[in-house]
Amino acid sequence: GETQEIRESMLEWYDCNHRKLPWRRKEAEEIVGEEEKEKRAYGVWVSEVMLQQTRVQTVVDYYNRWMAKWPTVELLAQASLEEVNEMWAGLGYYRRARFLLEGAKMIVDEGDGFPSTVASLRKVSGIGNYTAGAIASIAFNEVVPVVDGNVIRVLARLRAISANPKDAATVKTFWKLAAQLVDVHHPGDFNQSLMELGATVCTPLNPTCSSCPVSSHCRALTTSKQDNSILVTDY
Ligand code: ADE
Repeated sequence: GETQEIRESMLEWYDCNHRKLPWRRKEAEEIVGEEEKEKRAYGVWVSEVMLQQTRVQTVVDYYNRWMAKWPTVELLAQASLEEVNEMWAGLGYYRRARFLLEGAKMIVDEGDGFPSTVASLRKVSGIGNYTAGAIASIAFNEVVPVVDGNVIRVLARLRAISANPKDAATVKTFWKLAAQLVDVHHPGDFNQSLMELGATVCTPLNPTCSSCPVSSHCRALTTSKQDNSILVTDY
């Protein structure tokens, strides 16, 4: 059906077009052990928290410096708040750095390894639905959705949904929609494909629909509403 076609088109597009970023895995289908997965989960966590209010290009340098200083969650847990804030200097919203430190301490104190499901990740201080979904799907292949501003815009256009982005019910609608769409076999890549499409192709202004892998399924495009500001654009 249409859902399956969208999944396949998105995954193929993502494989060929994603930006190579330090927290992303290098090869398709690579099989990794538990320790490697936990390290990856830690990297996804750090990168997703940094990306929450900061552009990708800025995050790359901060991420590389952070991971060079604290390559594992165990090492981060031993850092001081001063060190963490110093490393964060210039990124803003210092609360995020404190949450990473507090979360790392919680994870290490629990002693059960890196939490690998949305349910267990949500118990960590500072990890909300978005970050939990990103870590669980990208690092542990849990079949869960991830919804951020980019994903909302992509899905709003795909389904030609106009709604008030400030309304909590709107956001809930998109989590439901994303949950129905997420690919069962490659949830992490699928979620990243939606975010990546929103960041690079399905942009708020002047989307490049001619390079979109799902343009034939896009109800905004087929009804010429891709530029319509009544679609959710500023979540
Ligand atoms: N923005 C925030 N997290 C992202 C991710 N994992 N992929 C693409 N864009 C993102």
